[in-house]
Amino acid sequence: MSTNSAIAYKSPGVVEVVDTPYPEFELRDGPGVNPANIGRKVPHGAILRTVATNICGSDQHMVRGRTTAPAGLVLGHEITGEVIEVGSDVEFIKVGDIVSVPFNISCGRCRNCKERKTGICLNVNPDRPGSAYGYVDMGGWVGGQAEYVLTPYADWNLLKFPDRDQALEKILDLTMLSDIFPTGFHGAYSAGVGPGSTVYIAGAGPVGLAAAVGAQLLGAGAVIVGDLNEERLAQARSFGCETVDVSKGDPRDQIEQILGVPEVECGVDAVGFEARGHGADSAQEAPATVLNSLMDLTEAGGALGIPGLYVTGDPGGIDEAAQVGSLSIRLGLGWAKSLSFATGQCPVMKYNRHLMQAILQDKVQIAKAVSATAIALEDAPAAYAEFDKGAAKKFVLNPNGYIKN
Ligand SMILES: NC(=O)c1ccc[n+]([C@@H]2O[C@H](COP(=O)([O-])OP(=O)(O)OC[C@H]3O[C@@H](n4cnc5c(N)ncnc54)[C@H](O)[C@@H]3O)[C@@H](O)[C@H]2O)c1
Ligand SMILES: [Zn+2]
Ligand SMILES: [Zn+2]
Repeated sequence: MSTNSAIAYKSPGVVEVVDTPYPEFELRDGPGVNPANIGRKVPHGAILRTVATNICGSDQHMVRGRTTAPAGLVLGHEITGEVIEVGSDVEFIKVGDIVSVPFNISCGRCRNCKERKTGICLNVNPDRPGSAYGYVDMGGWVGGQAEYVLTPYADWNLLKFPDRDQALEKILDLTMLSDIFPTGFHGAYSAGVGPGSTVYIAGAGPVGLAAAVGAQLLGAGAVIVGDLNEERLAQARSFGCETVDVSKGDPRDQIEQILGVPEVECGVDAVGFEARGHGADSAQEAPATVLNSLMDLTEAGGALGIPGLYVTGDPGGIDEAAQVGSLSIRLGLGWAKSLSFATGQCPVMKYNRHLMQAILQDKVQIAKAVSATAIALEDAPAAYAEFDKGAAKKFVLNPNGYIKN
């Protein structure tokens, strides 16, 4: 008997609403579940009724068939929910709490977690350090684009909102705390953004726009966002960013027109491995373009924040090298300029509490910046298609009717 509608990846370009089992305090076998995780007991977990769960560019890599995600994988790593059951080992999280779930699943007990590196927890994914809900190679924890979801290590992972009514009122902003707001902020922060900094952010998708909001919050002097999607660039301009259209040529030249110099202090890659080329090459995929261009246009001694995702297996890669995540990076240039690089999953827990306060105290308008758009769970397949075409929107699924506006 079905008790939990969810969104699953079926085949390239196809996602479906499927019936899945209601979660238990044990990880059962299913699509993408690592054999070593089958039967894993989760007494430290909580079961949530989903309040909001967002579609992400990271999901799109799987849905486009650009990863080794198996058919039937239940998607969804951006989750906000109401706690409706807690396991026997949960002490502090209570039924009725409204919580934000960091997309990284982490144990709170390993060396990396103790150093707040929750994106590379050692204990939750038997394949490799780092885990997430509803994601290929991430251990098999079931995704949260569903009515209900199990969240392990609940006392450690879940960020409780102080007030239920306030949380539901600001839910379209707060739902961005599970991933893109901390991720974008981390991109800006790890690129060294501070008061007066000049910043170039490649990509005006939700992560790039969140990085722009993050850079503004950190006090940047100039925030320049690049993309080839005019609708998304207009979205960036709507909250005070400068923009460059990379289909018109090298961003370096357009940056010079804005700043008077062709370089910035801080570079952010919010694109990842499905990057398109610049100028006349913008019709083609050119996976190393953003990294090479950021090395070129970031001042010597600067830093690159690289939230954009790079994979270890890409069946659709442009050549054999790209198919195993090997790209033609001009590292000599980065080395010569003493650039620093920060890659990997954003350790959400490092930032989510403070960014929550910034939202609750009306210091940022992240939902508006990314054009958060609430839709029913049944409308997810259409939203995936629209997002894939480059809609300047961040889709927020509303599976249980909590979102009223
Ligand atoms: N590190 C993390 O923890 C983390 C978390 C969330 C998302 N991500 C990754 O961040 C990236 C962005 O996510 P999103 O949801 O905004 O995705 P998205 O696909 O909506 O946005 C990517 C944008 O990049 C643009 N683009 C393509 N080539 C470009 C180029 N050469 N220069 C400038 N822009 C270019 C595209 O037109 C698109 O608008 C993805 O790779 C996603 O997987 C990483
Ligand atoms: Zn995401
Ligand atoms: Zn850990």
